[in-house]
Amino acid sequence: MITIAVTAEASDEPRIGISPETAKKLVQKGCRVAVQSGAGNRSRFSDADFTASGATVMESAADVLAAADVLLKVRRPDAADVAGLKRGAVVAAMLEPFGDRAGLDAMAGAGLTSFAMEMMPRISRAQSMDVLSSQSNLAGYKAVVDAAAMFQRALPMMMTAAGTVPAARIFVMGAGVAGLQAIATARRLGGVVSATDVRPASKEQVASLGAKFVAVEDEEFKQAETTAGYAKPMSAEYQAKQAELVAKHIAGQDIVITTALIPGRPAPKLITRAMVESMKPGSIIVDMAVERGGNCELSKFGETVDHNGVRIHGPANLAGEVSVNASSLYAKNLLNFLDPLIEKGAEALKINWDDEIIKGTLVTHDGKIVHPALQPKG
Ligand code: NAI
Repeated sequence: MITIAVTAEASDEPRIGISPETAKKLVQKGCRVAVQSGAGNRSRFSDADFTASGATVMESAADVLAAADVLLKVRRPDAADVAGLKRGAVVAAMLEPFGDRAGLDAMAGAGLTSFAMEMMPRISRAQSMDVLSSQSNLAGYKAVVDAAAMFQRALPMMMTAAGTVPAARIFVMGAGVAGLQAIATARRLGGVVSATDVRPASKEQVASLGAKFVAVEDEEFKQAETTAGYAKPMSAEYQAKQAELVAKHIAGQDIVITTALIPGRPAPKLITRAMVESMKPGSIIVDMAVERGGNCELSKFGETVDHNGVRIHGPANLAGEVSVNASSLYAKNLLNFLDPLIEKGAEALKINWDDEIIKGTLVTHDGKIVHPALQPKG
């Protein structure tokens, strides 16, 4: 019997990699599911919910780890997790493979077979396993809701007997999964929404959500999307043209939500100090890229900076703030990833090492860091 195990996350991570729904599915497939007591509390999944779904709730993390054939986590397993797992155990988590190399070496050294869920290839078969999409979507929603809560004005236009309240102007920078949800949410709340991106495919998507597209549409823009669907780093010339356009546009905005990312690189700096200073006091910037250095020059991770009355919010874990939904969807992503590897009643996972999904996400195996993107250069 395969034992799928889940230990509690660190204090700053409210999400969890399993839900009562996915635990039940795994039990139905003939797996044993072991969950550390209290691990689901911050996602409103109780021990009783897990027990009812057929999982075994254990008091000590060490017991859960010792039993584990597969460990499901949100964040990279910590040193105690790594020490508690047997050699050959499988880990699926958001490993942040480009950070803390020593931690990855330790996982390889412990003989763990680990998969980085955020490296999932963007192919249609893997859409239901795409953790970046499921989490960014919720984060994009929450960014706008938080901005609306901070903003000391209303978002929709209101015509009342006492006078007219103007609609808020909301600008979304980066129209990927998070940005598109931010646009949709901002529109639902009644804002006048505009958005920018460097990928030409985003233009139509922005328009279809009823927002105005603002971008430098030159030859480089036409080539800015990689075959993987991500943005390329833009040239210095493009960045200068983009900055000029953004500088003009941003001065008239009330709320700016930034989401721009380039895989494996620091976030592009799109909002300078001077641009912040051009905005009206009371304006709000939510920098969703703050974990990767931020899109705004002034943002600070996990803090709200007040610069001349413009507040720049750098949330540490937006998806974690909607942990109930985020955990449910993340757990489903993990289930969809594991499901093809589990034959009913089998004793071990059946991994097809040639599968694009496995090759794309496998980080450590057989004592080594194996992912091509993580090999020393040159
Ligand atoms: P992301 O989180 O890597 O980046 C966010 C956005 O920032 C992207 O739209 C990117 O083009 C934009 N950006 C980067 N540099 C910029 C700059 N200098 N200025 C303005 N914007 C900039 O991207 P995300 O959200 O992961 O989506 C990327 C694409 O992948 C989208 O087209 C999405 O629809 C697609 N996708 C495909 C999936 C599949 O086929 N399985 C699953 C999920 C997304």
